[in-house]
Amino acid sequence: MREGRERFAWATQSQEIAGLREELAREHEKLLALQDIGAASGSILNIDELLSLVVSRITRVMECDRTTIYLLDEEGKELVARVAEGEQRHEIRLPVGLGIAGWVARTGQLVNIADVYDDARFDPAWDRRTGYRTRSMLCVPMKNRLGRPLGIIQCLNKRWGAFTIEDEAMLSALGAQAAVTIENGRFFVQTIQKNMELLETKQQLERRVRELDVLVEIAQVSAQARSLDQLLEGELQRAVHAMEAEAGSILLAENGTGDLRFRCAFGGNPQAVKRMRIPEGTGICGWVAKNRQPKMVNDVSADERHRVDVAHSVGYHPRSVLAVPLFWTEPGELGGEEREGEGALELLNKHKGSGPFTDDDVRLATLMASNISNAISLAKARERTEREERLSGIGQLLSSVLHDLKTPMAVIAGYTRELESETDPAVRAKASQTILKQVDLINAMTRETIAFARGDRSVWLRKVYLKQFFEEVMGQLQRELEPKGVDIELVLEDRGVARIDQHKIQRAVHNLARNAAEAIGPPHARRRGGKVTLKVSRLLPEDSLVIEVADDGPGIPDEIRERLFDSFITHGKEGGSGLGLAVVRKVAADHGGSVEVESVPGHTVFRLVLPQTGQSSTELERAG
Ligand SMILES: Nc1ncnc2c1ncn2[C@@H]1O[C@H](COP(=O)(O)OP(=O)(O)OP(=O)(O)O)[C@@H](O)[C@H]1O
Ligand SMILES: [Mg+2]
Repeated sequence: MREGRERFAWATQSQEIAGLREELAREHEKLLALQDIGAASGSILNIDELLSLVVSRITRVMECDRTTIYLLDEEGKELVARVAEGEQRHEIRLPVGLGIAGWVARTGQLVNIADVYDDARFDPAWDRRTGYRTRSMLCVPMKNRLGRPLGIIQCLNKRWGAFTIEDEAMLSALGAQAAVTIENGRFFVQTIQKNMELLETKQQLERRVRELDVLVEIAQVSAQARSLDQLLEGELQRAVHAMEAEAGSILLAENGTGDLRFRCAFGGNPQAVKRMRIPEGTGICGWVAKNRQPKMVNDVSADERHRVDVAHSVGYHPRSVLAVPLFWTEPGELGGEEREGEGALELLNKHKGSGPFTDDDVRLATLMASNISNAISLAKARERTEREERLSGIGQLLSSVLHDLKTPMAVIAGYTRELESETDPAVRAKASQTILKQVDLINAMTRETIAFARGDRSVWLRKVYLKQFFEEVMGQLQRELEPKGVDIELVLEDRGVARIDQHKIQRAVHNLARNAAEAIGPPHARRRGGKVTLKVSRLLPEDSLVIEVADDGPGIPDEIRERLFDSFITHGKEGGSGLGLAVVRKVAADHGGSVEVESVPGHTVFRLVLPQTGQSSTELERAG
C-alpha cells in the first residue's frame, strides 16, 4: 500500500519535473526570442528582413500558425503590412478603425478572441479571398518608448485551443520589445542610408574635383598653345595622366580617304605610331570614329576589332584600350561647304594597380574629347581665316607691284631707245647699267610678292650711301619728268649713310614725284608752278631720315584729303588706280616710320620719316 503510494508519488513527481522542464525550455525559448528581437536592430540593414525575423520568432514563441505586424503609416491613418510571398513582398493596407486589427490600433487595447466568427468586427471576406480559415486571434498594440502608437501585432490560430492570459502577457512583452527593435532598426537603417549617401556624395565630389582639375589644366594648355599640334600634344598628355594610362594618341581621319592617321602620340612608341595609317572603320579607333561612340575594352584579346598587326608593327601591345570619338565641323576649302571632321582619342593600359578603365574614365575622356574637338574646330577656322587674309594680302600686293612696274618699265624703255642711236661706249655702258638696275628692282618686287605669299614679311634694310643713291634716283626722275616740262631739284642736306630698303624707297619716291608732276600738269594747261623738289635731311633728336617730295602745283583736292593714303582713292586723273600713295604708306610702315602731308595751293609736301635708331630698326632687320 505504502509502496503503491510511493510509486504514485514518484510518478507524479517525475511528471511534474517533466512539465517543469518543458516550461523551462519554453521560457528559455521566450527569453532567446526576446534577446534575438532585441539584438536584431543593430545587425540587420533592411527593415523587411528585420520584420520577418521578429515575426518568425513571435510565431514560434506564441505557438501559433501565423503572425502579422502592421505598422502605422506616416499620417497614422492606415496600417501597413509587408507580407512575403516567395521572393516578392506585397503590401496589405487596412484603414485604422476597420476590422479587429483596425480596432486595436484605434483603441490601443488588446483583443483575445477564441473564434473570430463570433466577433462582429471580423470581416470573413478575408478568409474567403485567401482560402485561409481563421479561428483564434490575439492582437496587441505596439507603442514606442514615448507611448506613441507604432502599429499592432496579430497572432492567428493558437496551435492548441485558444490564446491564454499568459499568452496575452507574453505577446504584450514581445510587442514592447519589437517596438523598440523596429524603431531602432528604422533609425539604424536611416543612419546607414545617410552614411551611404554621404559616401556616394563624397565620391561624386571627388570625381567632380578631378574632372574640374583636368578641365582647368586643359584650358591652360589651350591658352598657351601656339599651334594646333602643340595644343593636341598638351591635351593628350593631360588626358593620359588624368586617366592614369600608360600611353595614348589622337587620330584624325584624313580628308578624302577617311583613313585614320596618328596626329600625335604619347608614351609607348610615338615615333613608330606616327607613321601608321588605319583604314576607315577598322580597329577599335576606326569603329569609335565611325560610330561616334566611346569604347572601353579592358581585355583587348577578347575584342576582335583590336588590330594585333598594328600593335605588332609598332612593338607595343596594349592590354586595355579606352577610345572616345572626336568630331567637329570645319570650313570647306576656298569657301566650299562646311565639312565634318572625325577622329578618336585613344588611351592605352590603365597603370598597374589602378585596375581596369571605368565608366568614370569614359565620362572624363568624353569630356576631354569634346574639348579637343572644339579646339580642332577653332584651329581649322583660324587657319582658314589666315589663309584668306593672306590671299587677299597677295591680291593687294600684286596690284601695288603691277602699279609700280610702270616705273622700271618706263626707264628701261627710255634707255633702250637711247641705246639704239648712241655710239659713245661710255654713255652706252651707263645706259645698260641703269637698265640692269631696273631689272634688279623688278626682281626685288617679285621676291617681295613671293615672300609675302609664303607668310614672311620682309624688309631688306641695308646701309645706303645717300648721296649716290639719291643722285641715281634723281637721274631717273629727270628723264621721266623733264619731257613733261617739270623741273626737278635735289636738296641733299645729309650726305651720309642710312639703313633703308633702297628698292622700296625708290618706289615710294617715284610714286610721290610722279603724283607731283601729274598734279602740276602739262605746260599748256597749267596756271602756275612747274617744279618738284626732293629733299633729304635728318630729324633730331631721333636722327630719323626725312625724305620730302614737294611741288608748287594746285594742292590736294579737298574731297580726298581724309582718305588720301587708302587704296583705290584717286581724283582728277584718267587711268589713275589710286594705289600710289597706299604703296608709299606701306613702305613707310615697313620701315617702322610714317608719312605725312601738308598741302595748300602752290605748295604740297609729302614727308617720309624713317627712324634710324632705337629698337624698331633692329627689329626690322631681324624680320628681314
Ligand atoms: N602732289 C599732289 N598734289 C595734288 N594732288 C595729289 C598729289 N599727290 C596725290 N594727289 C591726289 O591723290 C590721289 C591719289 O594718289 P595715288 O598716287 O594714290 O593714286 P593716283 O595717282 O590717282 O593713281 P596711280 O598712282 O595709280 O596712277 C591722286 O589721284 C591725286 O588726286
Ligand atoms: Mg599716283
